[in-house]
Amino acid sequence: MRIGILTAGGDCPGINATIRGVCKTAIHHYGMEVLGIHSGFQGLIDIDVESFTDKSLSGLLNQGGTVLGTSREKPFKKSGLASGINKPELIAENIEKLGLDCIVCIGGNGTQKTAAKFADMGVNIVSVPKTIDNDIWGTDFSFGFDTAVTIATDAIDRLHSTASSHKRVMVIEVMGHKAGWIALYSGMAGGGDVILLPEIPYRMEAINETVMNRLKRGKPYSIVVVAEGILTDGTKRAAEYIAQEIQLATGIETRETVLGYVQRGGSPTPFDRNLSTRMGGHATDLIANRQFGRMIALVGDEITSIPLRDVAGKLKLVDESQDLIVQGRRMGVCFG
Ligand code: F6P
Repeated sequence: MRIGILTAGGDCPGINATIRGVCKTAIHHYGMEVLGIHSGFQGLIDIDVESFTDKSLSGLLNQGGTVLGTSREKPFKKSGLASGINKPELIAENIEKLGLDCIVCIGGNGTQKTAAKFADMGVNIVSVPKTIDNDIWGTDFSFGFDTAVTIATDAIDRLHSTASSHKRVMVIEVMGHKAGWIALYSGMAGGGDVILLPEIPYRMEAINETVMNRLKRGKPYSIVVVAEGILTDGTKRAAEYIAQEIQLATGIETRETVLGYVQRGGSPTPFDRNLSTRMGGHATDLIANRQFGRMIALVGDEITSIPLRDVAGKLKLVDESQDLIVQGRRMGVCFG
């Protein structure tokens, strides 16, 4: 069989490890031919591809980013049709032209939605969930998430020393799009005193009370972890808004840090490397067994797969019953 592999959407640590997992298994275990497709779905529009051999896969396991490059090209977006080109049809034709038996898509929610539409068109496609946000429905974790949490936790650890030295409140904004997974996991791992998630409405009074109570208990500094997707007044970034409100209300010097893209950079953690390897390997089994139109998923410690149509358009958001929230609340962590 001859397969094509592409990476689409935001980059994250672990993509290259997944490429390696798919391709090494496809080549060594199944004797498949592999074609790397550049820049996400754009590479299928432009037929921008390269043949992958064992040599092209060396050094990928611990390398950040994606050697294939990525894009946020959405072939089914209406505007594409306005350009006169029917991109989905063109992509299906080019897949035929390249003699590909299946496409492996590594991507986040947008990519899963696109992959589901191609599957409905009869294109042979399997996908692997990728995002630091961990907001893809149907899989307990996506690779990239553990690395982002590790980076964010290290940053929070570092903020403790400067906050206590200056008796300041430090507010750190982490990524996660509309979900609060990174804020929850890094906030609890980093000992945050206040953790704000898009999924849990917050009251400034509760936040300010937590900060003032710590001051009264001889802890004149606090760590506030906010997810980028929380509700604000719409004029400022989350961290800037919360920091300003706290300083105004409490009079305590407050500073903010927006962690940004470092959460998506660099080498994946061992957990993400091994999750990527396992998911990539299992994706080739779906292809060999001609089980197309499915996304690889981690459920418990098992790698399984679910129909793309069950994933498309859904988000996996944090629920208040999450044990980290239950335990955090019992310990006095303020979730707003
Ligand atoms: O989905 C990953 C992510 O990093 C989100 O956490 C963030 O909101 C978004 O991508 C940023 O998108 P872009 O890379 O297009 O700026």
